[in-house]
Amino acid sequence: MVKLVVGNWKMNGVSAQLAELEKLVALFPRPQTDIVICPPATLMMAAIKIVDVGPIMIGGQDCHVEPSGAHTGDISALMIKDAGGKFVIVGHSERRENHNEDSHTVCAKSIAALKANLKVIVCVGETSHNVPVENAFADIKTLLDQSIPDRVMPQNLSIAYEPVWAIGTGKTPTIEDIAKMHSRIRRYLGERFRTDTANLFRILYGGSVNPKNAAAILNTRDVDGVLVGGASLKSDTFSEIIKAAEGIH
Ligand code: PGA
Repeated sequence: MVKLVVGNWKMNGVSAQLAELEKLVALFPRPQTDIVICPPATLMMAAIKIVDVGPIMIGGQDCHVEPSGAHTGDISALMIKDAGGKFVIVGHSERRENHNEDSHTVCAKSIAALKANLKVIVCVGETSHNVPVENAFADIKTLLDQSIPDRVMPQNLSIAYEPVWAIGTGKTPTIEDIAKMHSRIRRYLGERFRTDTANLFRILYGGSVNPKNAAAILNTRDVDGVLVGGASLKSDTFSEIIKAAEGIH
């Protein structure tokens, strides 16, 4: 499966930040990996102009459940699509925490995104640290049950497993625990959807991915890509992570 490497810029970047995207475009004219940058909404149109028809794609960090309406400050999946976006992240733990988004809302957002012909990245992650994977999976299962729509083409939906305690902290689970959790999520997908489609979903890992740990994480069984926050802001560090996904040393 082609790996998916996503950079989530979060609420970072004014126009000057676009220079980092320009560098990435120059560095990866023909990537073997799917590369997506999710800039703040204010930079989205400019970012789309920079990537043009090239292989690097642009995504949104969130979308509203409705296509339009009286929702001050929100943007819809339709708007992201219209701007030229290809992906959208939903259910990031910062949205769940800071905006009280529950999994039912996340599911409605996923449906809205798929309707708008965007590919969707649904984030799930446990808050408790230092618990065995099987226990953490109990939380993850509830999040997956409620956040992922019943009718979905696996090619259009990816899951980002992001332990909340690993986001922005420099801490990561062991490679063994990442492998266990990802294979458990894969098994879940096979049980919930058709067994033969489980391998078509991309399961990303997110939380303190950096150039040092990227290769080990990306070479782990059932890891089909990474969702990167802090280390995606600089082309120097993000390009190292892309190279790890491409197997370039
Ligand atoms: P981080 O963020 O890479 O800065 O830990 C990851 C994320 O929030 O998706």
